[in-house]
Amino acid sequence: MTVINTGEQFSVDQAEIILDSALAQGIRIPHQCRGASCGTCKVRVLTGAVDHGWSLGLAITDEEKGQGYCLLCQARAITPELRIEIPSGVGGGNEQATEMCTEVLSVVSLTPRVKRVVLATPADRTFVYPAGSYLEVLVPGVDPNRMYSLASACRNDGLLELFVSRHAFGEASGFIHDTLRVGDLIRVRGPFGACRLPDGAGPVIGLAGGTGLAPVLAILEDALERGADEPMLLLHSVSQTREVFALDRLVGLSRRHDNFKYQILVTDEQSPYTSHPMFAPAWIRQTFSSLATHRAVIGGSPGFVEACAQTCISLGLDAARISTDSFVPSERRAIDENAHP
Ligand code: FES
Repeated sequence: MTVINTGEQFSVDQAEIILDSALAQGIRIPHQCRGASCGTCKVRVLTGAVDHGWSLGLAITDEEKGQGYCLLCQARAITPELRIEIPSGVGGGNEQATEMCTEVLSVVSLTPRVKRVVLATPADRTFVYPAGSYLEVLVPGVDPNRMYSLASACRNDGLLELFVSRHAFGEASGFIHDTLRVGDLIRVRGPFGACRLPDGAGPVIGLAGGTGLAPVLAILEDALERGADEPMLLLHSVSQTREVFALDRLVGLSRRHDNFKYQILVTDEQSPYTSHPMFAPAWIRQTFSSLATHRAVIGGSPGFVEACAQTCISLGLDAARISTDSFVPSERRAIDENAHP
């Protein structure tokens, strides 16, 4: 495989995501979300063909696919040779990223599947990041690096908070859940990511599935603490009542800010939160007759993000006023399951 812009060559197994292959071989390819959300990894295939894989349709259109473009964070090669061109002006957004050694301050179970991890940056390092950013965590023996969204806005205190969900067969999440201890040192890189509060005015709807709550909560909380006065409504969807977490943050925000409301949705069983189990798209349709004036921030698995985004769009929300954060854990890419951070 050849990158036309740089002349660099690398090999790609047809079973592998092209971006993963490139990064594993030290090839610098612009990228951010790795979840078909940001479009940073979009390239033009000049020779050969790819299987496009999963895409929400926000980062690449069918028309662009027809013109030969693909998202390298989703695509797999289907021809022995590929030549790609990185569009001019794409810098990747990774130039500001730094790598540093952090100290584990706490690892606490929030639910049977989710741990809250707090890391401390070195005291002599300034680490500033916009709300909605994510980190790469360099888990020993796990390649490529695993990405976790930061669960709060930058507070300039050098503390980094992550929600880490355990995944079946997940080497990184298994290490963090079972092996990582207070006082350990672990390297991280960042900040990355382009999920932000969409520009403009209008009410905000935040839609979060599982640990997709991290970027959505960070963005809305940051906006509220900065004085945003538009109505904001955050939906957190989990499968079971025992998987609800960060309720203290949601309740605290709703008590501090009259314009903030939240809703918990439990999809697989009866719960105290809704009259019956319900999925996010059904709740959106039940709650809103139109979202034409809204902006949306959506975080979660690709399936959750896609279903919510398409529902919002069907209710009149302009796709340009939707910001998404969906990560496909690399361990799940290998076993080709639906995924969620
Ligand atoms: S890195 Fe591929 S769309 Fe964001």
